[in-house]
Amino acid sequence: MLKSTDKGLRAIPFPMDDPERIPVERYYDDEFYQAELDHLWPHVWQMACRLEQIPEVGDWIEYTNVGQSVLVVRTKDGVKAWYNACRHRGVPIAGGTTVCSSHSTAYGNCSKTGFICPFHGWRWNMDGENTMVYGKHLFSERQLEEDDINLVPCRVETAIGCAFINFDDDAPSLRECLGPVLDRFEAHNTGMLRAEWQFGTVLPANWKIAMEAFMEGYHVMQTHPQLYKAHSEAHIDSYDNPDETQSSVAASRSAAKGTSTKVEVAAQFEHFELLCEGMAGMIHQKEVEIARELLDADLPEDASEGLPQWFGLLMQQITEQLRAKGEPVPDLIKVSQSDPVNAVEFLFPHFFLLPVFSSMSSYRIRPLGPEKCFFEIWSLTLFPEGEEPDPVMEPTVLPYDSPEFPPIPRQDYSNIPIQQRGLHAKGFDFMRLSKATEGLVSNYQRIIDGYLAGVPQEKLALATNELGGNFDGPIKDLDI
Ligand code: FES
Ligand SMILES: [Fe+2]
Repeated sequence: MLKSTDKGLRAIPFPMDDPERIPVERYYDDEFYQAELDHLWPHVWQMACRLEQIPEVGDWIEYTNVGQSVLVVRTKDGVKAWYNACRHRGVPIAGGTTVCSSHSTAYGNCSKTGFICPFHGWRWNMDGENTMVYGKHLFSERQLEEDDINLVPCRVETAIGCAFINFDDDAPSLRECLGPVLDRFEAHNTGMLRAEWQFGTVLPANWKIAMEAFMEGYHVMQTHPQLYKAHSEAHIDSYDNPDETQSSVAASRSAAKGTSTKVEVAAQFEHFELLCEGMAGMIHQKEVEIARELLDADLPEDASEGLPQWFGLLMQQITEQLRAKGEPVPDLIKVSQSDPVNAVEFLFPHFFLLPVFSSMSSYRIRPLGPEKCFFEIWSLTLFPEGEEPDPVMEPTVLPYDSPEFPPIPRQDYSNIPIQQRGLHAKGFDFMRLSKATEGLVSNYQRIIDGYLAGVPQEKLALATNELGGNFDGPIKDLDI
């Protein structure tokens, strides 16, 4: 076991004793899954909804996970959240869909009617105060004490355009847990992004298997050959050459001396087009068009000078041209230096943002059992003020192999179910991680162990801060 029980910590089934090896049972064992339900999910900040989904006072939306249902409500005093259970006999007061083969999200506006329990009609306002008990005289007085029949509040904090909930009243704050990555995203105006679309799918795989498909760039060569071919030599070198261990956009920008700017710029542009089409967003078509205008820009011939200059020009043009249309684009050059964000940012325990220029993709993963999960993708971009589209209120749920999914996630989804099956093969005992590029997979798994063992949450929050910018990065000493 990872931690001895004599330090006051719980024993963990199948612990991460070796940071480079993940015991395979963590992805299907019932006892391990139950440990996550008991000791991880009740204590972590979960992305519950996008704030654009509850723009008006009284707007509410349901978030469900691991058997809990919470109503996130926009009130006059900000965003609040209530456990979705009547104080009389427990019926969900709104929505009330349970976690089943896929999540369905109920939503509405309660400013006129409040919440009304469908069973005996008790009522509450948006602030969770009980406003009506039918036949009050039928109850003992002590059964109807005010505090006792108001809705039970759930912790909620807002950041980067989302509401995050936590079932634990004593957990460190959202900012303490996720740390500076939130500030860096705020500097990128992430809170002003709006969803263009949202897809969801049920994957026959453990929720961690689904997430880990997006924690490294090492799989790009084989899984996304179209992206790999379009990458510059410098990017490919970052995996082939023992002196270069980091990939990411930053590395792909640092072209080797002697290569031609024209060739590198063309490779970058092809890569952008493939990403734009392959993700149906992430790099938005409007940004690709701006890049296209700059293909023949006058730049130094040597790519080690010319390519960084081209990126500078592109970020400047995206900023200027989209701002001229009224989009709240940050100064991309400035924020790329003051508040750099990685190509994939993982926000423990189950949320991702994948930023490129002014647009991004986003993922959220929820478990539906030891070997089943629900995976959602949003495509996010900025709009001129006043021209924002109506909010997307729920995902379009498709089979994971649906041709309607954009091609890149479809390629990832093709691996996930077969990987889950492979885990059960005789003789397969553990995942074998690269210490240089699959570090994030090890790092967040060891933080999970911290929760399962009962390590103090302040300590876990500090370790979780280390996950910011860790995509494709090394295994770290997390001190937990
Ligand atoms: S269970 Fe809600 S009013 Fe009775
Ligand atoms: Fe991928």
